[in-house]
Amino acid sequence: MPPKNVPSAETPSPAGKLKNLQIVRTVPDLRQQVQEWKTAGLTVGLVPTMGALHHGHISIVKQLQAECDRVVVSIFVNPMQFGPSEDLDKYPRQEAQDAAKLDEAGVELLYAPSVEDMYPPGFLTTVSIDKLTDYMCGAMRPGHFDGVTTVVTKLLLQCQPDVVIFGEKDYQQLTVLKRLVRDLDIPVRVVAGRLVRDEDGLATSSRNVYLTPEERKIALEIPKTLAKIAHDLEQGRTSIAAAVKQGRNHLIAAGCKEVQYLEVRDDETLQEVHDLSRPCRVLVAAIVGNTRLIDNMPIRPKS
Ligand code: PAF
Repeated sequence: MPPKNVPSAETPSPAGKLKNLQIVRTVPDLRQQVQEWKTAGLTVGLVPTMGALHHGHISIVKQLQAECDRVVVSIFVNPMQFGPSEDLDKYPRQEAQDAAKLDEAGVELLYAPSVEDMYPPGFLTTVSIDKLTDYMCGAMRPGHFDGVTTVVTKLLLQCQPDVVIFGEKDYQQLTVLKRLVRDLDIPVRVVAGRLVRDEDGLATSSRNVYLTPEERKIALEIPKTLAKIAHDLEQGRTSIAAAVKQGRNHLIAAGCKEVQYLEVRDDETLQEVHDLSRPCRVLVAAIVGNTRLIDNMPIRPKS
């Protein structure tokens, strides 16, 4: 499937001002550096991102730095994972600021390929995962996970890291990508990146910049609602169905334009659950103003 849209031009990085960070844009340049490190006996980690880096990304970078010797961060706003009515054109692009943050965090390499290099004319391949992508974000964003699994397969083949990290905020994406690596025998270890919240409790996201102060107040009801559902279920105070119904009603009453899903699922497989006999997770996608926000929290039933 060819890319659906081509994003607007990106800001070039001020490479001269960087202390340590190198920037590469092509697969041969990326591979050459990674190969040099591997030949020297160093382990390499990859943090795939779409840029607009915030402290959640930097926390994931730090987490990965503790697991390997050299870190590569990729920045690529992947047109293939955006639907026709989604925010591809307006998605924040700020490579120069991102590069400065990565440099400050001690990252060695930024890989920032162009859309034309990632999807050259005639590109026809899609990597697609069945079943796990049929519900929640997969149902709401048709084709989204095909775009994610295709680009992540490419990034892993391009970079060939020893370790890769994906954030837990996109919990379904993390589950899908673990399956991708397992099913295709890709020789990389997948690490789950800790979900980071702003001080007020909102899960960090590049899309939070779209929120007005009023919308942000509404958005804060999302983590509060998840925490209440998790707490009530952990305490055995209510059933899954009742907790979810109450949570959904609360979010709409609080001002969310739409609750696309609010579900309790198995923590590991993301299959539907009817009781809390195994660790579970409550997951949500809601629209606040024009911004789609996702979040999740673990539910640890008392043993
Ligand atoms: O989570 C993201 O930022 C993106 O989906 C990813 C994994 C970088 C693929 O484009």
